[in-house]
Amino acid sequence: MARLIALLATVPALISAAAIAPSPTASTATNSTCRCLPTDPCWPSTADWNAFNKTLGGKLIATVPLASVCHSSSFGCFSASKCNQLKSVWDFPDTHIASSSDPVAPFFANRGCDLFTAPDAGCVVGSLVQYSVKASTAADYLATIKFAQQKNIRLVIRNTGHDYYGKSTGTGALALWTHNIKTTQLLNYNANGYKGKAIKVGAGVQNSEAQAFAHANGLALVTGNGGSVGFAGGYSQGGGHGPLATKYGLAADQVLEWEVVTSTGQQLVATPSQNSDLYWALSGGGGGTYAAVLSMTVRAYPDLVSSAANLTFTNQGITDDVFYGAVAQFLTTLPSIVDSGASAVFLLAPGLFLLQPVNAPGVTKAQLQTLMNPTLNYLTSKGIGYDFHVDQFSTFLDSLNAYNPPPNVTEYNIGGRLIPRNLFTTASGAASVASVYQFINNAGGVVSGVSVNVSNGAKVSNAVNPAWRTAITSTVIGVPYDPLVFQNNLNAQKNITGVLVPKLDALSPIKGAYLNEADMNQPNFQQVFYGNNYAKLKSIKNKYDPTSTFFGLTAVGSDDWTVDSTTGRLCKIA
Ligand SMILES: Cc1cc2nc3c(=O)[nH]c(=O)nc-3n(C[C@H](O)[C@H](O)[C@H](O)COP(=O)(O)OP(=O)(O)OC[C@H]3O[C@@H](n4cnc5c(N)ncnc54)[C@H](O)[C@@H]3O)c2cc1C
Ligand SMILES: *[C@@H]1O[C@H](CO)[C@@H](O)[C@H](O)[C@H]1NC(C)=O
Ligand SMILES: *[C@@H]1O[C@H](CO)[C@@H](O)[C@H](O)[C@H]1NC(C)=O
Ligand SMILES: *[C@@H]1O[C@H](CO)[C@@H](O)[C@H](O)[C@H]1NC(C)=O
Ligand SMILES: *[C@@H]1O[C@H](CO)[C@@H](O)[C@H](O)[C@H]1NC(C)=O
Ligand SMILES: *[C@@H]1O[C@H](CO)[C@@H](O)[C@H](O)[C@H]1NC(C)=O
Ligand SMILES: *[C@@H]1O[C@H](CO)[C@@H](O)[C@H](O)[C@H]1NC(C)=O
Repeated sequence: MARLIALLATVPALISAAAIAPSPTASTATNSTCRCLPTDPCWPSTADWNAFNKTLGGKLIATVPLASVCHSSSFGCFSASKCNQLKSVWDFPDTHIASSSDPVAPFFANRGCDLFTAPDAGCVVGSLVQYSVKASTAADYLATIKFAQQKNIRLVIRNTGHDYYGKSTGTGALALWTHNIKTTQLLNYNANGYKGKAIKVGAGVQNSEAQAFAHANGLALVTGNGGSVGFAGGYSQGGGHGPLATKYGLAADQVLEWEVVTSTGQQLVATPSQNSDLYWALSGGGGGTYAAVLSMTVRAYPDLVSSAANLTFTNQGITDDVFYGAVAQFLTTLPSIVDSGASAVFLLAPGLFLLQPVNAPGVTKAQLQTLMNPTLNYLTSKGIGYDFHVDQFSTFLDSLNAYNPPPNVTEYNIGGRLIPRNLFTTASGAASVASVYQFINNAGGVVSGVSVNVSNGAKVSNAVNPAWRTAITSTVIGVPYDPLVFQNNLNAQKNITGVLVPKLDALSPIKGAYLNEADMNQPNFQQVFYGNNYAKLKSIKNKYDPTSTFFGLTAVGSDDWTVDSTTGRLCKIA
C-alpha cells in the first residue's frame, strides 16, 4: 500500500486522481460552484433542449462522435468502410474542422469513442461537447450564452477546434460553433490612427480564406503558415504569427475593431478608442476568455513581390557534432534573415534539419540567396549534402502557396518557449541553443522554430505577451503522441514540463512562451504566457465576464476553476 501511494505521488495529478475513487463531493454539484453534467438532475431535459432548438430556428446539433462509424455499440452508424475512410483522412485538419465537436489536438480527442479501438469497444460522447449551436447571428450568440447560464452548463466557443489545450472542447459542454460565419468585406478605413485598406471578417473565416480574399483585392494580410487555423478566433486573439509578421507585426497588432457579444448580453464594438480595455485584452490576451467575437476588422497591405526558400540536410555520413554545428551556424543567420523582413520556419528531428520555408515578402530571389549563402557555404565546407530551393513570385499568396505544404494534425505532445534575439548574435549563444535542441532530439523530441521579429509593425497598445517583442524564435517542442497507450502521453507531457521545457527556459532570463503553442501544464502560466499583463487582463476579464461564463485551460481567469480528472466536471475553486 505504501508503495502504491508512493507511486501515485510521483505521477501527475491528472492520473493520480483517476486512480482514486471519485470523492463524494464530485456528485453534489451546486449552481454556484460547479457546472452541471448530463448525469446530474440539474441537466436540462429533452423538452428544454427542444425548446432551445426552437428558439434557435433549428441550429442545435447533438454530438455524434466522428469515430462512431467505427463502433457497433451505439449511435447505430457502424460501417467498416466509412471507418476505413475516416482513418485515411484522420491526419488532415479538415476532417476535424468540419465536425461540430471534434478537437484537432489528439490529447483532447474522445477516448470514449476512439478511432483506434476495436469495433465492439464502447462509443460515448465522453469528453466532447454534448451539443453545438451552429451560430450565424448575434441573436444565436445571445441565446446560447443565456441558455448556458440559466441551465448552469459549461459553455465553450468552438471555431476550427485547433486549440492545443482543448479550450474549444469540454465534457458536458455546449459549444457556440462559429465556423460557418464566413463573411468578408473590403473597407476603406479611416479611424483609430489608421487610414487605408482594411478587411472585416466574420468569426468563422479561416486564414487561407482571408488571405485569398485579400489577394483577390490586390492585398495581403498577416495570417499564419497554417491556413486551416481560424483567423478571428484563437489565432488573432492569442497573438498570431505568420510569414508577414516580421514585416507588419503579429496578427493581434493588425486589429482595428472587434465586434463582440459579452456574457452579460451586450453587443459591443471594441476599438482603441471605444471599450478600449476590451480591445486591448482581445488583441493578444487569448481566445475564449473575455467575450464572443462576431467579427474582426484588420489592416490590409498592398500585395508585394515575394521570395521563398527551403533547405533540407541530414546527418547522413557525419557526426552529431558536425550536424548540430551546422544547425548552430544556421541559427546565427536568423538575425540577418529577419532583418530583411522575412519569417522562417524550421524543424529539427533526430538526424534531420528542414527549413520549410523562409518567406521573404518584398525581397528578391537574389537577396534571399545571399541571406542563405553563409549556411550553404558552411554545409559545403563540411561536406554535408543538402537540398535547397529558392524562387521569386509576383504575389505574396503565390509564394505562400508554393512553399507552405498544408500541415497535418499535430500528432505530438507539445511545449514551447520564446527565445530572445541576443542568443543568436554570437556563435557561442547559437551553439548553446543548438545544444539544447540536441538534448531534446536525444530525448526523442522534435523541435520547431518560427523565427520572426514582431517589433517592426503597427505600433499599437495591446495584450500581446511582451516577451514576443525581444524574441527571434518561438521554439515549440514535440514528443510523439501515442494513440494506443494514453499513459505514454501523460509521461511525455510530464517530461516536457519537468525536463525539456526547463532546458529551453534555462537559456535566457526572459521567461516567456507563445500562449497558443506551449505546454498546457506550464507552471506559473500566468507570467510565462501573459507576462506582466496578467493582473490587468484578469480585471478586464472580471469586468466583461463577471460570471466566468467563458473558461479555457490556461486562459486568463482559469486559475479560479478546476476540471475534475475523473468526471471532467468544471468547478470553481472554493
Ligand atoms: C495545424 C496547426 C497549425 C497552426 N499554425 C499556426 C500558425 O501558423 N500561426 C500561429 O500563430 N498559430 C498557429 N497554430 C496555433 C493556433 O493559432 C491556435 O491553436 C489557435 O488557438 C486556433 O484558433 P481557432 O479559433 O482556429 O481554434 P479553436 O480551437 O476553435 O479556438 C481556439 C480558442 O479561441 C477561442 N475562440 C475561437 N473563436 C472565438 C470567437 N469567435 N470569440 C472568442 N473566442 C474564440 C476558443 O474558445 C478557444 O479558446 C496552429 C495550430 C495547428 C493545430
Ligand atoms: C441549478 O439551478 C436551476 C435553475 O435555477 C435548478 O433548476 C437546478 O436544480 C439547480 N441545480 C443544482 C444542482 O442546484
Ligand atoms: C434541431 O432542429 C432541427 C430542425 O428541426 C433538427 O434537424 C435537429 O435535429 C434538432 N436538433 C436537436 C439536437 O434535436
Ligand atoms: C500527412 O498525412 C498523410 C495521410 O496520413 C500522410 O500520407 C502524409 O505523409 C502526412 N504528411 C506529413 C507532412 O506528415
Ligand atoms: C522545397 O521547394 C520545392 C519547390 O517549391 C519543392 O519542390 C520541394 O518539395 C520543397 N521541399 C520541401 C522539403 O519542402
Ligand atoms: C524523458 O526525458 C529523458 C531525457 O531526460 C528521456 O531519456 C526519456 O526517454 C523521456 N521519456 C519520455 C516518456 O519521453
Ligand atoms: C527588430 O528589428 C529592430 C530594428 O528594425 C531591432 O532594433 C530589434 O532589435 C529587432 N528585434 C528582434 C527581436 O529581432
